[in-house]
Amino acid sequence: MTAPHAAAGDPYPAYPVGLRLAGRRVVVIGGGQVAQRRLPALIATGADIVLVSPSATPSVEAMAEAGEIRWERRPYAEGDLAEAWYALIASTDTAANAAASAEAERTRTWCVRSDDAEAATAWTPATGRSEGVTVAVLTSGGPDPRRTAAVRDAIVEGLRDGTLVAPHHRTRTAGVALVGGGPGDPDLITVRGRRLLAEADVVIADRLGPRDLLDELPPHVEVIDAAKIPYGRFMAQEAINNALIEHAKAGKAVVRLKGGDPFVFGRGMEEAQALAEAGIPCTVVPGISSSISVPGAAGIPVTHRGVAHEFTVISGHVAPEDPRSLVDWKAVAGLRGTLVLLMAVERIGAIAEALTTYGRSPETPVAIIQEGTMATQRRVDATLATVARTARAEDVRPPAVIVIGEVVTVNPPEAGPANPPEPGPDQPAPNEQ
Ligand SMILES: C[S@@+](CC[C@H](N)C(=O)[O-])C[C@H]1O[C@@H](n2cnc3c(N)ncnc32)[C@H](O)[C@@H]1O
Repeated sequence: MTAPHAAAGDPYPAYPVGLRLAGRRVVVIGGGQVAQRRLPALIATGADIVLVSPSATPSVEAMAEAGEIRWERRPYAEGDLAEAWYALIASTDTAANAAASAEAERTRTWCVRSDDAEAATAWTPATGRSEGVTVAVLTSGGPDPRRTAAVRDAIVEGLRDGTLVAPHHRTRTAGVALVGGGPGDPDLITVRGRRLLAEADVVIADRLGPRDLLDELPPHVEVIDAAKIPYGRFMAQEAINNALIEHAKAGKAVVRLKGGDPFVFGRGMEEAQALAEAGIPCTVVPGISSSISVPGAAGIPVTHRGVAHEFTVISGHVAPEDPRSLVDWKAVAGLRGTLVLLMAVERIGAIAEALTTYGRSPETPVAIIQEGTMATQRRVDATLATVARTARAEDVRPPAVIVIGEVVTVNPPEAGPANPPEPGPDQPAPNEQ
């Protein structure tokens, strides 16, 4: 007797369950796009995966080469599902799919089918993960992949950005998260940074970075402008360190929100060291540094094949002749690749002069990008010979990233119509919820 299938329009909903597959045999029939999409999650479960397929996509092939799955290069044959706990049937051969699915039914192996949801004994939910939570969404009455994907996206996005408040009941350790906020556009903070911000009691923020996000914080969150911390006889950095320590010691979840990446001219390590000395737990969340993202936002790649094989990021906060400078400008001038200068607007004249004096061509293209990734972003182009004059004439102001090198003149090709994706050998996957 065969079990009744939960088919489209069937009154019976699918029963949700989390399969613990570690060390258990899972058979995948077909090595095309469906397998490629599903295999990473199956591999993550620790399952013992056997792929049966005469061919495979390059990505699936790479999984076999890496030893993550075993690949038998042949078509499905009766008996392949022996000992399997779970099967994914997703080949382009419908007759083989039907035969494998019939075998699964006989051997009581739960199986999903990419080509026939009704014939499957299991459906794959739309899944997503955030911070140790797996969200799996199914619809009753048959698969509705668009709806389940939309519900999944809404939940996962809400968990990630903190707009869906689902407090976990593990005890929260008070401490400080040094969060790189990216170059300024609020969409360019990392998912982890965004979530920690949403969970913070206290946020100590720099002038640069995604300041718009601060407006979205609930009223109980104390937002402190790092630039305004009174520091009296202390150095400003010491005052910030003390504020971090003081709030963390009071049991608060503290976010130190910085522009770009905390460890690129961000003094992040000084804060991490001060916290370590005070015995305060500290998490570092990397951010998108303005040194790469701001040129990118202005259409400048910091490297380009055949043009620049290296890029060097330099602080211009002290002039080349300043005894405090740690930069070997002569060596820098001898480099052929891209130079990216931060904090250099005020000293660009002296820097350009040092570079040309030490041999870099005065005709080298230069671009200054002010307030990159923000609504006010603007780009000013010049050469090493003209940059100081141009910056003055155009009234360029910080924050700005200055890019020096041939990459400045690499332009994108004329945009054409976007190509629709090629259909894969075995997509779509109609039984994916
Ligand atoms: C103290 S450094 C901090 C760099 C930051 N940690 C990073 O990784 O982007 C500040 C300098 O970064 C650059 N900068 C940061 N954000 C910028 C933006 N949105 N547009 C242009 N320059 C920016 C400017 O050169 C600014 O003077």
